[in-house]
Amino acid sequence: MTPRTLLPLLGLLAAFAWAQPSGGLVDAARGPVPILQPTDPPRLGNAINDDVRRPRNYDMQPPTIPHRVDGYQIDRNFNKCLDCHARTRTDFSQAIPVSPTHYIDRSGKVLPQISTRRYFCMQCHVAQDAVQPLVGNGFENADQIARRAAEAAQAGKK
Ligand code: HEC
Ligand code: HEC
Repeated sequence: MTPRTLLPLLGLLAAFAWAQPSGGLVDAARGPVPILQPTDPPRLGNAINDDVRRPRNYDMQPPTIPHRVDGYQIDRNFNKCLDCHARTRTDFSQAIPVSPTHYIDRSGKVLPQISTRRYFCMQCHVAQDAVQPLVGNGFENADQIARRAAEAAQAGKK
């Protein structure tokens, strides 16, 4: 982009910034910090490491990671996660092997090695930190809803 085309754009951005209300809008995640200012979020640094597998809330939910993963290298040459989670490594690691879906490419072909679309594990799997949720969450999984419905039906019969 040439400076000539950049200038009007900058002007537009400035006008935008000016038009933003400075107060009034409060977001639970940002606090009272104005939208145009960066926040200073608390650092995460104490991931849960209890090794207890967590229940999954729905079919095809990527399970959350029950151990720390900081410093695990994933790049073109090496994938630390697969060092333990690859099918061929689990006798040594006792980790849960990645499921067969991780070996299928996008056209449905089963590959002998992990599919590239499942290579970057932490696109889908995340470790958990023991923090207070920012907003209330009334999520119920399918089993909880079914149980509640059955209890309500029972109560209705009496
Ligand atoms: C040193 C071996 C090792 C490494 C490296 C490792 N894991 Fe694990 N992982 C385990 C073991 C063992 C378990 C079983 C629970 C436990 O002991 O923590 C596990 C459990 C899990 C689970 C839970 C599966 C379920 O069904 O609940 C996920 C998800 C997971 N790991 C993802 C990862 C990811 C992503 C990485 C890389 C960032 C990684 N792991 C690196 C050993 C490892
Ligand atoms: C695109 C999202 C995605 C990526 C990337 C991904 N996974 Fe998964 N993973 C899932 C989903 C969804 C499931 C649960 C359903 C299934 O098995 O496909 C799962 C299941 C698992 C399980 C549990 C298997 C079982 O039999 O219970 C492990 C362990 C796991 N993944 C590890 C990994 C590791 C290690 C990597 C990186 C090499 C990885 N995943 C990359 C989405 C992903």
